[in-house]
Parts: sequence; structure tokens; C-alpha cells
Amino acid sequence: MTQDLILETRGLTKEFKGFAAVSDVNLRVQRGHIHALIGPNGAGKTTVFNLLTKFLQPSRGTITFNGHDISHEEPAQIARRGVIRSFQISATFGHMTAMENVRVALQRKLGTSFHFWRPEASLHGLNARALELLEAVDLASYARTLAAEMPYGRKRALEIATTLALDPELMLLDEPTQGMGHEDVDRVVELIRKVSANRTVLMVEHNLSVVETLSDRITVLQRGQILAEGGYAEVSQDPRVLEAYVGVEA
Ligand SMILES: Nc1ncnc2c1ncn2[C@@H]1O[C@H](COP(=O)(O)OP(=O)(O)O)[C@@H](O)[C@H]1O
Ligand SMILES: [Mg+2]
Repeated sequence: MTQDLILETRGLTKEFKGFAAVSDVNLRVQRGHIHALIGPNGAGKTTVFNLLTKFLQPSRGTITFNGHDISHEEPAQIARRGVIRSFQISATFGHMTAMENVRVALQRKLGTSFHFWRPEASLHGLNARALELLEAVDLASYARTLAAEMPYGRKRALEIATTLALDPELMLLDEPTQGMGHEDVDRVVELIRKVSANRTVLMVEHNLSVVETLSDRITVLQRGQILAEGGYAEVSQDPRVLEAYVGVEA
């Protein structure tokens, strides 16, 4: 089987004082996929994200992105390569309007790529691109609204817009629908589907119906290790997965 892997970890391990939060994880994410990372609380999902973006240093193992070993790179280098984590790196500023938030993100992207002479770096170009991004997440009508005054679900959409402004090749979403009501969940699902068209998405998501709707592939973590992997139909019927989830519910 030919696989075009955008991201691969080998033996990825993170120990906190001898406790392995992530243990020998071989994660393989195929380019163009929406790949979900699921598992009970404490399974190590957020730690994996922190390792991928180098907010944490791995204790052992390697991380390869687009064929480059990025295991020893700094968070900023990894972001420049196009690995962007939403809701952390791209948190929004409450005292700025939706438009200003997206513009700041666009300026950051231009700042790191040194293409300041390009036409899109002009004030007009920035505004036009910012508006395009707001339209892409269905927020054009909020352009002049302060982020702090936006409803919760819309604010998460703004966070996705600011992440998109950085033009990620691999977008990491940590619980994109967390704390949302049904309508906002549906909206964000559509949004993720739309923005994933020409990029790869790796997401941690607790809402299994969202996982079912969106994922091309799912990796299930338990106690820091990969428990199962596959499509939703396969993984959701795996007795070990059911037990892992039921075990936690009980
Ligand atoms: N900085 C840390 N120091 C010590 N233990 C940690 C730290 N971060 C996470 N852990 C532990 O690692 C395990 C995995 O945590 P986490 O990655 O947050 O899980 P998940 O996101 O799947 O709920 C948990 O047992 C957690 O308590
Ligand atoms: Mg977590």
C-alpha cells in the first residue's frame, strides 16, 4: 500500500518523573486526511499534541514532518513548516475586532515568511484577505465586532480563521467542539470539512458523532499507548476500544 505520510512519529515517548504519559507511539498521518486522535481522559492526547508542536520535549522517539526530522526543532520552526495548532497558538484577542484578529494573524504569517514586498502585505491586500477568511468561516457580519463580545461558538470559528491565516499544511485541532451546543457543533463540523479541503487535519475530539462524520482515520490512545487504529466502523466495534471507554464511564 502506498502511503503519502505527512507526519510520522516513531517510538514517541514522554515521561514525567518516570510516569509515561505517552509511550512508544507510532502515529502515521496520511496527507489530506482528517485524522482523529481519541481516547479516554488521561490517555495522552494533549501530551501528543504538545510533543508534535514541541511545547514539550520528547523523552524518546522521533517526529518526521514532510520527510524532515523535526524532533529537535523549536516551536517557531515547526510553525514555519506549516504545523499549526488551533486554540493555543492562535488564541484570539478579546479587545480586538474579528477583522483585526485575523489581520494580526496574517501579519504574523507575513512576518515569518519575509515576503513583506508582496502585494498582499499592503494594507488593502491584508484587509481583503482578512475579509476572505472571515467569509470562509461565515463571520463576515462579525467583522467589526469585538472578539470578547462574540458568542462562544462564533469565537471558536474566529480561532479557526486566525489559524487559517497562518496557512497551515497540518492543522492540529484540540477539541474543536468542546463546550458547544448542537447548532454550533454542526457549524464547526461543516467548517472543518470545508477548511480540510486542501490540507491535513489532526484533531482530538470527544464527540464521537463528530469523529464519525469527519474522520478518514482514527487512532485510539489508552494510557499513553495506541490501542487501536482504523476507520470509524472498525474502531467503534473493537472490543478493546469499547472496554476502554466503558471502563472509564463505569
Ligand atoms: N506536565 C505534566 N506533569 C505530570 N503529568 C502530566 C503532565 N501533563 C500530563 N500529565 C499526565 O499525563 C497523562 C496524559 O495527560 P493528557 O495528555 O493531558 O491526556 P488527555 O489529553 O488524553 O486527557 C495524565 O495522566 C496526566 O495527568
Ligand atoms: Mg486533553
